[in-house]
This record gives sequence, C-alpha cells and structure tokens, in this order.
Amino acid sequence: MGDASVKTALVMGATGGIGAAFVERLLARDGLERLHCCSRSGASPTDDSRVTSHVADYDKPETIDALGTAMKSEDLDLVIIATGLLHAGDDLGPEKAMRALNSDDMHRVFHVNTFGPALMMKALLPAMSRDEKSVFAALSARVGSISDNGIGGWYSYRSAKAALNQMLKTASIEHARRWPEGIVVGLHPGTVDTGLSEPFQRNVADGKLFTPDFAAGAMLDVLDGLSSSDTGKVFAWDGAPIPA
Ligand SMILES: NC(=O)c1ccc[n+]([C@@H]2O[C@H](COP(=O)([O-])OP(=O)(O)OC[C@H]3O[C@@H](n4cnc5c(N)ncnc54)[C@H](OP(=O)(O)O)[C@@H]3O)[C@@H](O)[C@H]2O)c1
Repeated sequence: MGDASVKTALVMGATGGIGAAFVERLLARDGLERLHCCSRSGASPTDDSRVTSHVADYDKPETIDALGTAMKSEDLDLVIIATGLLHAGDDLGPEKAMRALNSDDMHRVFHVNTFGPALMMKALLPAMSRDEKSVFAALSARVGSISDNGIGGWYSYRSAKAALNQMLKTASIEHARRWPEGIVVGLHPGTVDTGLSEPFQRNVADGKLFTPDFAAGAMLDVLDGLSSSDTGKVFAWDGAPIPA
C-alpha cells in the first residue's frame, strides 16, 4: 500500500489505547487526506483539519447504520476496528475456569469483540475503494487461535476472538467477489500497555510489553505489505500469520 496510497482512512475505537495510537500514526503520513475517527463519545482526538469525528456505539446499532450511510461514497482505503473488551474492573473478567461462565458476561464479551465488529463490516465494506488495494482490519488476539490454545482459560474472550476471525474470513470471501483488490484481515497487536492489558502485565517478559505507538506502527507496516492473496487471514504485529 505504501504511505502515500492511503488517502482516506477510518479508525473505530479512536479513543482507546491502541486506536488513539493508530490515529496519531495515520495523521503523520504524508498522503493522508481524510481521517474518520469513530468512538462511543464522538470526541475528536485532535483539531487536525483532516479529521471528522463520528459517534459509533455497539450498544446503539443505529449509530453503526448511520455511519455506513455517511461513508457510502467515501472510497475508504483503510478501515481499522480497534475496539475490544477483556475486563471491566470488578464487574467482568476473563474466566480462569468453567465454573465462572455465565450468560450475561459471555453476551457482553461477544457483543464487543464479535458482534460489533461484524456490524462494522456490514456497514463499511461496501464503502471501500473498489479499483485499487483497500484494507479492512480488525484487532483480534493470538488467544483466538484454536490450534495455539495450549493453556486454556479466558473462555469468552478467546472464543469471541475466534468467532471474529471466522466473521472476517467469511466476509473476505464475499467481499472479494466485487472488490478483487479488497483485503479483510485480523491483527494481533502483541501485548500492549493499555487499560485492557493492565491487570495482566505482571508475567510479561522484559521488552515484550509494547507501547501503543510501537504496536500501531508495526501493524501499519504489516498492512502496507499485504496483497489480495492475504485476505481472510490473521497476522501478528511482526507480520507472522496466526493459525486458525
Ligand atoms: N492491549 C493488548 O495487550 C491487546 C492484546 C491483544 C489484543 N488486543 C486487542 O486490541 C484491541 C484494542 O485494545 P486496547 O488495548 O486498545 O484496549 P482499550 O484501550 O481498552 O480500548 C478498547 C476500545 O474498545 C472500545 N469499546 C469498548 N466497548 C465498546 C462498545 N460497546 N462500543 C464501541 N466501542 C467500544 C473502547 O471505547 P471507549 O474509548 O469509548 O471506552 C475503546 O476504544 C482490542 O480488540 C483488544 O482485544 C489488545
């Protein structure tokens, strides 16, 4: 894709730890002309004149529909979905054992990690630019890989990310029929120093806890290097494919 080929981009979760870093990295690119920043609050992360802010809230699906309508003729070159949910303080946390499973928490985790991004695919894939490379990327996680699951635990988050990966793969097949240059992928950012990982950082090896800026830069390099044969896959921050 190269820096200059991304003219119009959209970041969903623009006020999150990694999402805000994507916003900064994209604005630092020479060729960028327009950046749509989407979040629950609709807050503008910067007064840069290239930025337009939108409210997009998975708890209010009508905001996702409205975003899709607003983007209809935007010819988006790049969409990044940087939303996700692993814990909510004392209210919700990843299950260590089966006995911790309960219906409400499972719904909440799937709502943010799977259903919301799937509705964003439905709203935004029709707005991707058609005759040149375009990329729709959603933040997944390595723990969503079924074949890589060696230690168990984190039932809902793992499963919600595995389901997200399947949503992306399925959409990649349908999207390619009309957007042959269109790429739909999942991304694993590494372990990144944000509110989402904060309670789980104790056992991270030295040098393996990334800043949001490093992770966003690395993932943009991965997206720049993708071609249409990569669609439907999940890639880590270093470009290594993650098995299903
Ligand atoms: N940090 C890590 O180590 C790590 C590792 C692997 C994968 N990931 C993945 O990377 C992505 C970004 O995570 P992060 O570390 O940047 O976490 P974060 O700082 O907690 O950001 C989470 C984002 O999700 C948004 N969000 C939560 N519920 C939402 C809802 N109902 N509707 C719309 N947006 C909602 C938040 O919006 P508000 O700003 O409005 O709260 C925020 O933008 C997630 O998919 C996560 O699973 C992170």
